[in-house]
Amino acid sequence: MIIAVDGPAASGKGTVARALALHFRLPHLDTGLLYRATGLQCLRHGGNPSVEADAVAATGFSEAMLDDLEIRSEAASRAASVVSAHPGVRQALLERQLAFARQPGGAVLDGRDIGTVIAADADAKLFVTASSETRAKRRFAQLVGEGSKVAYDHVLTDILSRDERDSSRSAAPLKRAEDAALLETDDLTIEQTIGAAIAEVTRALDR
Ligand code: CDP
Repeated sequence: MIIAVDGPAASGKGTVARALALHFRLPHLDTGLLYRATGLQCLRHGGNPSVEADAVAATGFSEAMLDDLEIRSEAASRAASVVSAHPGVRQALLERQLAFARQPGGAVLDGRDIGTVIAADADAKLFVTASSETRAKRRFAQLVGEGSKVAYDHVLTDILSRDERDSSRSAAPLKRAEDAALLETDDLTIEQTIGAAIAEVTRALDR
């Protein structure tokens, strides 16, 4: 059983995917980490994330990079969003995601193109979203909680520019798969969102 969870930055898709993995006892892959690791590796090697050859070379990051705290930094987020627009980068990271999705027993994957490209045949698909203001507020609260002194306006601008880049690129743009259930989370608590996601997946599996 493959469960695909997609959505824009700070929509809560990661939280939903982790909860579904726990509930349905499936392994989970946060595919954003692969793009973050590529972005961070590119920066560390003095490469330019906008240059496709530099970005593709950085897909050879070490496994340890996936646990590096800096992968969560703003610089890595921005670099991830830039490297992820290159078709060569998406191609280089494809096999690993396909292998994860197709492992015996199934998996939960979250990202931008799981329901549209990586696992278009997934048994259940969710598109988790919220307004840009709600998402910026959540990301701001998270960053402040981690001790960061970032300004709210800055977080909102960053989210808007990543949304724009992710949705307008030609290679696997962020978009809801036609058969994905829409989960709008503006007025939902985390518990309500998880409850709705489990109900939706259970319905999809019964079909
Ligand atoms: O958690 P957040 O939404 O802030 O970011 P993420 O899911 O870790 O993804 C970081 C960046 O990687 C995104 O802004 C996308 O540009 C890119 N990404 C992608 O292109 N395709 C995916 N399947 C996952 C992430």
